[in-house]
Amino acid sequence: MSMHPSPVELLSAQRISQRLQSLSEEINEHYQGKEILLVSILDGAIIFTADLLRLLKVPTQLDCIRISSYGNSTMPESAPRITGSLKSDLRGRHVLLVDDILDTGNTMWQATQEISTFKPNTLRTCVFLDKPERRTNGFQADWVGFSIPDEFVVGYGLDYAGHFRELPYLAKLQTIPPA
Ligand code: IMP
Ligand code: MG
Repeated sequence: MSMHPSPVELLSAQRISQRLQSLSEEINEHYQGKEILLVSILDGAIIFTADLLRLLKVPTQLDCIRISSYGNSTMPESAPRITGSLKSDLRGRHVLLVDDILDTGNTMWQATQEISTFKPNTLRTCVFLDKPERRTNGFQADWVGFSIPDEFVVGYGLDYAGHFRELPYLAKLQTIPPA
């Protein structure tokens, strides 16, 4: 008998949108008079990126990379795989690296290492979610939407085996037996 996980709301769409408002104000303030190159980590950061991008009041360009640390499970594979590359020249740019969630920190560590080799003027990081309890490498993001406890979450771009990205709210998964 298979078990169907069902999403239970943790953060409403309204709460997310309110937090993004204040987060974007801090980012706008920080980059005043500059131009941002926002580098989004696909696929998880796609919704967060789209919402954040539209709240930025400084000139912003968008580039994307793809790094995958999960297969079809809630357990991360040993090392994140980088499977996409940048189209932009990063030299002299103010790069803002955006991801959905900072968990062990492996993905962000890997991505910041790689991006640094392209000599941006500055490199900062912004994540929608932070699970500080799970960190293995001390990585800290410059901007965090919400800090959450160590629970597997879905929605607002985050998936479980490719599912639930479309939920407009953040949820945790509760496993219930099929009816
Ligand atoms: P890290 O490399 O361990 O920091 O993991 C970061 C990546 O793992 C994120 O970009 C997500 O794609 C994925 N991830 C970590 N925790 C969760 C979760 O609770 N739900 C869905 N994806 C997660
Ligand atoms: Mg991800």
